[in-house]
Amino acid sequence: MLYSEKVLDHFSNPRNVGEIEDADGVGEVGNAKCGDIMKMYIKVDNGVITDVKFKTFGCGAAVATSSMATELIKGKPIEEALKLTNKAVVEALDGLPAVKLHCSVLAEQAIKAALSDYYTRQGIDPLPIIGEIGDCEHCH
Ligand code: FES
Repeated sequence: MLYSEKVLDHFSNPRNVGEIEDADGVGEVGNAKCGDIMKMYIKVDNGVITDVKFKTFGCGAAVATSSMATELIKGKPIEEALKLTNKAVVEALDGLPAVKLHCSVLAEQAIKAALSDYYTRQGIDPLPIIGEIGDCEHCH
Protein backbone atom coordinates (compact mmCIF):
# COMPACT_ATOMS: atom_id res chain seq x y z
CA MET A 1 0.00 0.00 0.00
CA LEU A 2 1.41 3.36 -1.07
CA TYR A 3 -0.43 5.38 1.58
CA SER A 4 -0.84 4.59 5.27
CA GLU A 5 -4.30 4.13 6.73
CA LYS A 6 -3.93 7.41 8.61
CA VAL A 7 -3.15 9.29 5.40
CA LEU A 8 -6.19 7.76 3.71
CA ASP A 9 -8.34 8.58 6.72
CA HIS A 10 -7.26 12.22 6.87
CA PHE A 11 -7.60 12.53 3.10
CA SER A 12 -11.14 11.13 2.92
CA ASN A 13 -12.25 12.77 6.16
CA PRO A 14 -10.11 15.88 6.62
CA ARG A 15 -10.36 17.70 9.96
CA ASN A 16 -10.68 21.47 10.31
CA VAL A 17 -11.47 22.30 6.70
CA GLY A 18 -12.94 25.73 6.03
CA GLU A 19 -12.22 29.29 6.97
CA ILE A 20 -12.50 31.46 10.07
CA GLU A 21 -14.16 34.76 9.25
CA ASP A 22 -12.81 36.71 12.22
CA ALA A 23 -9.41 34.98 12.21
CA ASP A 24 -6.53 36.55 14.15
CA GLY A 25 -4.07 35.42 11.51
CA VAL A 26 -4.31 34.21 7.92
CA GLY A 27 -1.48 32.68 5.94
CA GLU A 28 -1.35 31.65 2.32
CA VAL A 29 1.55 29.80 0.80
CA GLY A 30 2.29 28.10 -2.50
CA ASN A 31 4.33 25.01 -3.14
CA ALA A 32 7.26 25.89 -5.37
CA LYS A 33 7.43 22.35 -6.70
CA CYS A 34 3.85 21.74 -7.85
CA GLY A 35 2.14 25.14 -7.68
CA ASP A 36 -0.47 23.97 -5.17
CA ILE A 37 -1.83 26.50 -2.68
CA MET A 38 -2.68 26.33 1.02
CA LYS A 39 -4.53 28.86 3.15
CA MET A 40 -4.56 28.64 6.96
CA TYR A 41 -6.72 30.58 9.45
CA ILE A 42 -6.00 30.78 13.17
CA LYS A 43 -7.67 32.15 16.28
CA VAL A 44 -5.36 33.02 19.14
CA ASP A 45 -6.29 33.64 22.75
CA ASN A 46 -3.69 34.35 25.41
CA GLY A 47 -0.90 32.85 23.31
CA VAL A 48 -2.88 29.67 22.64
CA ILE A 49 -4.21 28.60 19.24
CA THR A 50 -7.85 28.07 20.08
CA ASP A 51 -9.03 27.34 16.55
CA VAL A 52 -7.51 26.60 13.17
CA LYS A 53 -8.97 25.90 9.75
CA PHE A 54 -7.47 25.35 6.32
CA LYS A 55 -8.37 25.39 2.66
CA THR A 56 -6.23 24.01 -0.08
CA PHE A 57 -5.99 23.67 -3.81
CA GLY A 58 -3.64 20.81 -3.26
CA CYS A 59 -3.23 17.10 -3.71
CA GLY A 60 -4.39 14.36 -1.37
CA ALA A 61 -1.13 14.33 0.55
CA ALA A 62 -1.43 18.08 1.11
CA VAL A 63 -4.97 17.62 2.42
CA ALA A 64 -3.95 14.78 4.75
CA THR A 65 -0.88 16.53 6.14
CA SER A 66 -2.76 19.80 6.71
CA SER A 67 -5.58 17.97 8.41
CA MET A 68 -3.11 16.25 10.74
CA ALA A 69 -1.13 19.46 11.29
CA THR A 70 -4.25 21.39 12.35
CA GLU A 71 -5.10 18.65 14.83
CA LEU A 72 -1.57 18.79 16.24
CA ILE A 73 -1.60 22.55 16.88
CA LYS A 74 -5.21 23.11 17.97
CA GLY A 75 -5.31 24.03 21.65
CA LYS A 76 -1.51 24.37 21.79
CA PRO A 77 0.59 27.42 22.68
CA ILE A 78 2.07 29.34 19.73
CA GLU A 79 5.60 28.28 20.72
CA GLU A 80 4.66 24.64 20.28
CA ALA A 81 2.97 25.26 16.94
CA LEU A 82 6.11 26.96 15.69
CA LYS A 83 8.15 23.88 16.54
CA LEU A 84 5.92 21.62 14.46
CA THR A 85 7.90 20.40 11.47
CA ASN A 86 6.61 18.76 8.33
CA LYS A 87 8.66 15.73 9.40
CA ALA A 88 6.70 15.42 12.65
CA VAL A 89 3.43 15.68 10.73
CA VAL A 90 4.54 12.96 8.30
CA GLU A 91 5.55 10.75 11.23
CA ALA A 92 2.17 11.29 12.88
CA LEU A 93 0.61 10.01 9.64
CA ASP A 94 2.87 6.92 9.62
CA GLY A 95 4.83 8.21 6.67
CA LEU A 96 4.36 9.41 3.11
CA PRO A 97 5.86 8.17 -0.16
CA ALA A 98 9.13 10.05 -0.83
CA VAL A 99 7.72 11.74 -3.94
CA LYS A 100 4.93 13.25 -1.81
CA LEU A 101 7.11 14.57 1.02
CA HIS A 102 7.19 18.04 -0.50
CA CYS A 103 3.39 18.21 -0.10
CA SER A 104 3.74 18.11 3.69
CA VAL A 105 5.74 21.33 3.67
CA LEU A 106 2.69 23.39 2.70
CA ALA A 107 1.03 22.86 6.08
CA GLU A 108 4.13 23.79 8.09
CA GLN A 109 4.66 26.91 6.00
CA ALA A 110 1.00 27.94 6.10
CA ILE A 111 0.96 27.71 9.91
CA LYS A 112 4.07 29.87 10.07
CA ALA A 113 2.57 32.34 7.60
CA ALA A 114 -0.65 32.58 9.64
CA LEU A 115 1.32 33.17 12.85
CA SER A 116 3.46 35.72 11.07
CA ASP A 117 0.28 37.56 10.05
CA TYR A 118 -0.96 37.31 13.63
CA TYR A 119 2.20 38.96 15.00
CA THR A 120 2.13 41.64 12.32
CA ARG A 121 -1.46 42.49 13.29
CA GLN A 122 -0.31 42.82 16.90
CA GLY A 123 2.35 45.31 15.82
CA ILE A 124 5.12 42.80 16.50
CA ASP A 125 7.86 42.07 13.95
CA PRO A 126 7.43 38.35 13.20
CA LEU A 127 10.83 37.84 11.61
CA PRO A 128 12.88 37.34 14.82
CA ILE A 129 10.23 34.94 16.16
CA ILE A 130 9.37 32.93 13.09
CA GLY A 131 12.23 33.55 10.69
CA GLU A 132 12.00 33.32 6.94
CA ILE A 133 9.26 31.04 5.64
CA GLY A 134 11.40 29.22 3.15
CA ASP A 135 11.16 26.04 1.16
CA CYS A 136 12.27 22.74 2.54
CA GLU A 137 15.14 20.67 1.25
CA HIS A 138 12.73 18.15 -0.33
CA CYS A 139 11.34 20.75 -2.69
CA HIS A 140 14.36 21.32 -4.90
FE1 FES B 1 1.31 19.71 -4.72
FE2 FES B 1 1.12 17.60 -3.24
S1 FES B 1 1.48 17.65 -5.38
S2 FES B 1 1.04 19.65 -2.60
